[in-house]
Amino acid sequence: MEIPQDRAELFARVRSLLSLKAHTDELERAESVLYALARSIEGKDPYTEGHCERLAEFSARLGARVGLPEEQLTALRRAGTVHDIGKVAVPDAILLKPGPLTAEEQVIMRQHPVVGERICAPLKSFRLVLPIIRHHHERLDGSGYPDGLKCDAIPLTARVLQLVDVYDALTTERPYKCAISVPEALAMMEDEVRKGWWDRDLFAEFLQLVAESDGRGRVA
Ligand SMILES: [Fe+2]
Repeated sequence: MEIPQDRAELFARVRSLLSLKAHTDELERAESVLYALARSIEGKDPYTEGHCERLAEFSARLGARVGLPEEQLTALRRAGTVHDIGKVAVPDAILLKPGPLTAEEQVIMRQHPVVGERICAPLKSFRLVLPIIRHHHERLDGSGYPDGLKCDAIPLTARVLQLVDVYDALTTERPYKCAISVPEALAMMEDEVRKGWWDRDLFAEFLQLVAESDGRGRVA
């Protein structure tokens, strides 16, 4: 960086750098509050421990594999951690219920993508994260929620995250079910691709990634 000779110019430059730094610090603080909130929800349920980290890493790898640009990969990493942040509005009795939800409970549970989007909306740096949060429970045939979007109307980043989310949920123990093996999980997802829930091409890439990694998208 060229050092300005003029003292006034030097002061002006330092001041603008400091205000930039303050802005960045504030942004970091806001982001870390969101992450802490997301982790506190994850922490309520011992079964989901580590889910956010795995999701962040794995979905960014799948996104890279299908050629998403760096800013979308960053959005996927952030969404991996905060996608379920809206569950803060779901009572524990529903969130941790060790059995199927009633129709009424399902209505409450299904609000979490919309609530999550609202929580993160004020943060400008989360612009690309918002559609992932809102649409991570949509299905290609329109049977998902909250908007019942179909096919390409569902953002690719949301489709990436949801595949990894479904896979991680299947292969991890939850209050209402045991974990199933990787081959069983993949067979089940294959079935769901046939039913029209998930993106066939993306699932093919996903299978390759699982095969080439340790089953969690991590390549040795
Ligand atoms: Fe969710």
